[in-house]
Amino acid sequence: MSESENGTLVWKRKHLLTLEELSREEIVHILDTAHGFEEVSTRSVKKVPALRGHVVVTMFFEDSTRTRMSFTLAAQRLSADILDFSEKMSSTKKGESLRDTARNIEAMGVDIMIIRHGAAGSARSLTESVNCCVVNAGDGQHEHPTQGLLDLYTIRQRKGKVEGLKVAIVGDIAHSRVARSNLHALLKCGAEVTFVGPPALVPGVFRELGAKVTHDFDAVLPEMDVINMLRIQRERMTSNAFPSTREYVRLFGMNAERFKRCKPDVLIMHPGPVNRGVELSADIADGPNSSILSQVTNGLAIRMAVLFLCQQAASA
Ligand code: CP
Repeated sequence: MSESENGTLVWKRKHLLTLEELSREEIVHILDTAHGFEEVSTRSVKKVPALRGHVVVTMFFEDSTRTRMSFTLAAQRLSADILDFSEKMSSTKKGESLRDTARNIEAMGVDIMIIRHGAAGSARSLTESVNCCVVNAGDGQHEHPTQGLLDLYTIRQRKGKVEGLKVAIVGDIAHSRVARSNLHALLKCGAEVTFVGPPALVPGVFRELGAKVTHDFDAVLPEMDVINMLRIQRERMTSNAFPSTREYVRLFGMNAERFKRCKPDVLIMHPGPVNRGVELSADIADGPNSSILSQVTNGLAIRMAVLFLCQQAASA
């Protein structure tokens, strides 16, 4: 990112691949741009012409509800034309590689490719095959940058700041791209991050990335400003990481009893999909301290900002 003659910041990246590689200024610039787009969703005609004449494709090789629909709606609000690639009905079933699939889709005149894939690094490797913008919508266990951004946005919105906050991220950290993207964004913006969970899911090696690590949720509960509860990703596990779901809930589930020991204004987050009764009880998920649905709402403005900025950089 660079500064123009009139002092405004100019976005230089045509891809959004990770939050690890972004500076604090770049992250804040995306959040501020998203804040500007928030108002569009309150209009009677919820559209701006920012991407009119541009083509956006969503390419999801893993299941999604929130991210896929949010990117689609974001592109529609920016007046782009949208293509939706469905792996299950595509020629990848006939052996076509990701590279060839992407290059063929790009040949239709696509400007922005949004990809979710089970392989870490898949979004970055796509940038070597296509010339259009690439946006990472989740690459294996590596990163989910727009989730990290919308979580940061929600924290800033609800707490008025990020700097100095104590944030616990609880659960299956080992398999979580959300945890990694959140960690990079939160540390850059001055928060303190503690990873919490069973030893098999929260290995001490995460300390090397700048997180605190504990396996004792109850010990850190009262000091946290924000608690982000993550889903157990059984689909990515090769063996049992804890004795039983009942035991996991006893030690790491957020419920009314634990909630009583939190700060009164603690922010309870979850990226979704929620397994009610496992990482959170229903009363906490639907309670006044929960930001679960605000996170989804904010995801729309964040994704509008990301699509807009990437296209702006590509057009410069
Ligand atoms: N939070 C998130 O990525 O949800 P989806 O898997 O439904 O997109």
